[in-house]
Amino acid sequence: MKIIAKEHIAEDLTKFVIESELIAEKALPGQFIILMVCKEGERIPLTIVDTDEKKKTITIIFQEVGYTTKLLGRLESGDLLYSLVGPLGKATPVRNYGKVIVVGGGVGIAELLPVARAFKDAGCAITSILGGRTAELVILPEQVKEYSEDMYITTDDGSLGEKGMVTDPLKRLIEKDQNYGLVFCVGPLPMMRAVSDLTRAFNIKTLVCLNSIMIDGTGMCGGCRVTINGETKFTCVDGPDFDGHEVDFNELMTRQKRFISHEKHAMCKLDEKIKK
Ligand SMILES: Cc1cc2nc3c(=O)[nH]c(=O)nc-3n(C[C@H](O)[C@H](O)[C@H](O)COP(=O)(O)OP(=O)(O)OC[C@H]3O[C@@H](n4cnc5c(N)ncnc54)[C@H](O)[C@@H]3O)c2cc1C
Ligand code: FES
Repeated sequence: MKIIAKEHIAEDLTKFVIESELIAEKALPGQFIILMVCKEGERIPLTIVDTDEKKKTITIIFQEVGYTTKLLGRLESGDLLYSLVGPLGKATPVRNYGKVIVVGGGVGIAELLPVARAFKDAGCAITSILGGRTAELVILPEQVKEYSEDMYITTDDGSLGEKGMVTDPLKRLIEKDQNYGLVFCVGPLPMMRAVSDLTRAFNIKTLVCLNSIMIDGTGMCGGCRVTINGETKFTCVDGPDFDGHEVDFNELMTRQKRFISHEKHAMCKLDEKIKK
């Protein structure tokens, strides 16, 4: 579990290539790993963005948002991870859906990449919509473009593409043509909710990739539970992809805020450590 290569790809966004023969052999699009940076550390889930069976490596891209991702960002090429398990979760159900719109926001664009590649390989015609707060946060546009027939970019501040939200081009596209077999979306929860609300009105099948807080990643702790069509599901073993029209986003958004005080406390401790 050695980090073979490290690349800074945008503000607070880092790419690692990691040695992992077994995961590289088995991983399917949409699956994830859970890693620990150090023995005392917490377990965090990250999507497997790419695999290379020949080189026996996997690629992850992560955003430094809190204690563990900031610790991870301080590791360098040649460093070892304390632990790494995977591939976890169900693979994205890939088949030829005909015309597909893939929507990615922020670091979700990295998570979108393996799925877009798989849809393309399955014969889908892909239109991609990428969004971010600002130009620098619209990551990997060239890589997503490789699998797309059309691409639209939106930024909150208008520094790249059109000023606005990913739902603006999405609304125009589906108002003009309702013959899309699937909309696939991964990004912040408010974005996935807005996309699902929009497509529900047009009855277009929509999958969202939920980034619930996870602990064990094997269906034992219940930490990642979500309500889907009134039923309790575990994101780690039943997902992470779910029908966006069936997700109880209000409950999920509340659950994502459960550990805010602990997260702030952990960040203060990290700041103190860095100052020393
Ligand atoms: C299946 C899955 C795949 C994921 N793939 C990626 C990926 O490829 N790249 C990536 O950067 N992140 C990904 N995430 C999110 C990543 O796991 C979290 O950002 C990470 O656990 C945060 O840990 P932390 O200690 O650094 O931050 P914390 O201190 O735990 O949290 C800091 C802030 O981030 C928010 N946060 C915490 N956990 C999550 C979460 N699971 N999702 C969204 N926001 C969260 C908190 O609410 C808080 O505002 C994925 C999550 C899941 C469930
Ligand atoms: S992370 Fe524990 S049940 Fe899913």
